[in-house]
Amino acid sequence: MRVTEAEFVKKFIKTADDGWILGWHERNGGNLSYRIKPDDVSAVKENLKEGEWRDAGTYVPGLKGEFFLVTGSGKFFKNVKEDPEDTLSIIEIDDTGKRYRIVWGLVNGGRPTSELPTHLMNHEVKKAINDKYRVIYHAHTTNLIALTFVLPLEDEVFTRELWEMATECPVVFPDGVGVVPWMVPGGYEIAVKTCELMKKYDLAIWAHHGTFAAGFDFDLTFGLMHTAEKAAEILVKVLSMGMGKKQTVEPEDFKKLSKVFSVDLPERFLYEK
Ligand code: 13P
Ligand code: ZN
Repeated sequence: MRVTEAEFVKKFIKTADDGWILGWHERNGGNLSYRIKPDDVSAVKENLKEGEWRDAGTYVPGLKGEFFLVTGSGKFFKNVKEDPEDTLSIIEIDDTGKRYRIVWGLVNGGRPTSELPTHLMNHEVKKAINDKYRVIYHAHTTNLIALTFVLPLEDEVFTRELWEMATECPVVFPDGVGVVPWMVPGGYEIAVKTCELMKKYDLAIWAHHGTFAAGFDFDLTFGLMHTAEKAAEILVKVLSMGMGKKQTVEPEDFKKLSKVFSVDLPERFLYEK
């Protein structure tokens, strides 16, 4: 099967394009990766080549031999739909967990996203928790970024404020969200910090930069990003009205919600203000 005909590739392209349409991917902002299922690798195998092994910039022994579909560094999300073979690549991790090679895509040269260490380390952490996790998505979510200039950069504060903005939030991300203080992107240190948070959460906000989301499939991961960003948009509007909150969802209300929807909401997010 041609790579671009595979269902997982079509879904990947659709997800990238949806993020572009929502305004989260100016220029080359953001990146997306998918841990490909073995059957899907087999289905496209005849169209894979063997590139040179390169340093992955990290060590991911839990991902030995895995294949990933991933956006290219410097590639624009707006161009993914039109030219997937230029903007995307499939990479294979070697049997040491330290190197990768390009086996498809990036036909005009280049390399996978500069955030490859964060993507791979997040995949490794999530796979160890549950093998169903397959998608890691980084978007430059306007409203979540805006909030990192005015709220304390604490997991408890971000989680609680977002939960209050839309009743679906505590149901969609009951574990909460993590916050990484501003750091230089594109390297190993920020990857370490982010995957620490990914042990607890499916969402990690990079202060003054963007958001990482993890999920089982494209719809769930995109939906998670969208839900958090929508809640952030509501909070930005509330704060912009300059009147404070006259009423909101209170800790007692969250407790009622957790019973009816059978979700565990950690006590540390339900603090008295
Ligand atoms: P890449 O183009 O290397 O994926 O970088 C975009 C980005 O958002 C960096 O954080
Ligand atoms: Zn970014």
